[in-house]
Amino acid sequence: MDNLEDDIRALQLDSSAEDSNTVPNENGEEPKELVASDNVEEDLRDESYIDPQTVHSEPKDVAEVKEQTPAAPEPIVDEVEKEKKRHLNVVFIGHVDAGKSTIGGQILYLSGQVDERTIQKYEKEAKDKSRESWYMAYIMDTNAEERVKGITVEVGRAHFETETTRFTILDAPGHKSYVPNMISGASQADIGVLVISARKGEFETGYERGGQTREHVQLAKTLGVSKLLVVVNKMDDPTVNWSKERYDEIESKMVPFLKSSGYNVKKDIQFLPISGLHGTNMQTRMDKKVCPWWSGQCLFEALDAIEVPPRDPNGPFRMPIIDKFKDMGTVVMGKVESGSVREGNSLLIMPNKVQVKVLALYCDDDKVRSAGPGENLKVRLSGIEDEDILSGFVLSSIEKPIQAVNEFVAQLQILELLDNAIFTAGYKAVLHIHSVVEECEIIELMHQIDPKTRKPMRRKVLFVKNGAAVVCRIQVSNMICIEKFLDFQQLGRFTLRTEGKTVAIGKVTDLRA
Ligand code: GTP
Ligand code: MG
Repeated sequence: MDNLEDDIRALQLDSSAEDSNTVPNENGEEPKELVASDNVEEDLRDESYIDPQTVHSEPKDVAEVKEQTPAAPEPIVDEVEKEKKRHLNVVFIGHVDAGKSTIGGQILYLSGQVDERTIQKYEKEAKDKSRESWYMAYIMDTNAEERVKGITVEVGRAHFETETTRFTILDAPGHKSYVPNMISGASQADIGVLVISARKGEFETGYERGGQTREHVQLAKTLGVSKLLVVVNKMDDPTVNWSKERYDEIESKMVPFLKSSGYNVKKDIQFLPISGLHGTNMQTRMDKKVCPWWSGQCLFEALDAIEVPPRDPNGPFRMPIIDKFKDMGTVVMGKVESGSVREGNSLLIMPNKVQVKVLALYCDDDKVRSAGPGENLKVRLSGIEDEDILSGFVLSSIEKPIQAVNEFVAQLQILELLDNAIFTAGYKAVLHIHSVVEECEIIELMHQIDPKTRKPMRRKVLFVKNGAAVVCRIQVSNMICIEKFLDFQQLGRFTLRTEGKTVAIGKVTDLRA
């Protein structure tokens, strides 16, 4: 196990090495380039494919828990007003039933977005479904299936503000069947709240191999979630009762795992105990009578203080599309990964290379005139029909358009193959890269990376097994828009999944059209 975890770290998804495409070696010698980075001309031979199967479901907006007022003319929010506060997208991740939706619901309640009447209504509804304690989660879990089963299916989206920051909450599902939805949620996030249940037995199941605590952490890191708040939840539970021993046990088990997943525990990780159900240590620091040993921050304070690297508003515009719909034109949704956009701008939809014009921009459902990197936007466009757009397409600058490829070279870290299968040319998997979900096939294993020296091994390999690091050529049948990891981490890191399990993580090292 240790070896495997070392290997994951060696894939250099850890923040200290993110801007390097080189492999350090143990002797501290000059790092060596792994793959030459020659630029490949873009080539859009297949400009017109449409595959409805890859369209995601629209994330559900859940901040509609107060009486709605009839539609009024849309006021334009002055962007200066909006920019006073920074904006962060925070994804809630963790094993099924850890309490993600409960915490999300509690945040909305504590920040005054849910009135008592609504809470009482949910209490009754939850009771009728024999799910008494689920009423807080109902604020985030809005559809019938979710409420009956008590699990999140679609990523819930809501907004709240602290002193310094506007947050968009993305409440991911923890159930293993919905990992693709979690991936889509995490790919829109800047930071994450990893929720862990302290209840007896629950921490253990989530942390086991095959549990989603592990899978979510690895995916989050791969998808660019740079910082994690690890909240140890359900501290009020009778099996825990705010026990320091239990909290310390969980922290001491999580730390090595977080390290091995590429997080710098000192810089990127912060632990805190809470009760999502009761709202303890969330908006205000908790009473010493509840928990005498904790004198640290509460959740809102910690979120407020999190620092993320500044984003470049002047880079080439890139917004991967996660969803689209028709509403007085074509509206696309996504997170701006680079550059800025203004009403009236002309842009390109890639890979089908259609020029479009920005008619209107919405940020947190407010109409805005312009928006910068990190914002989750709805963009109304003219010049294209919604059926000509798929999730995974990228809204891109015309001057510096994103490349479209059907083949690329990548450095892969094999995590765990199904039934210890072997990984060889011909291996098929589902590729998840930003908002793209595509079938892919490994065309060639180019070379393996020596687990000890981290150098490419000379001998050609025909297959590798669990834990191997390997450079290979990957092909997709439809054109996709991606970037080299070196140029653009968010659009150049990916995961491979087979039959609902994450089998490898990787980064794009070269593009081939
Ligand atoms: P999925 O979305 O299905 O992954 O689950 P989730 O992480 O969103 O968990 P959810 O919020 O639905 O909560 C699951 C159960 O844990 C519910 O019964 C909650 O009432 C309970 N729960 C959540 N937080 C707490 C807590 O702080 N204390 C206690 N005692 N129970 C909690
Ligand atoms: Mg949930």
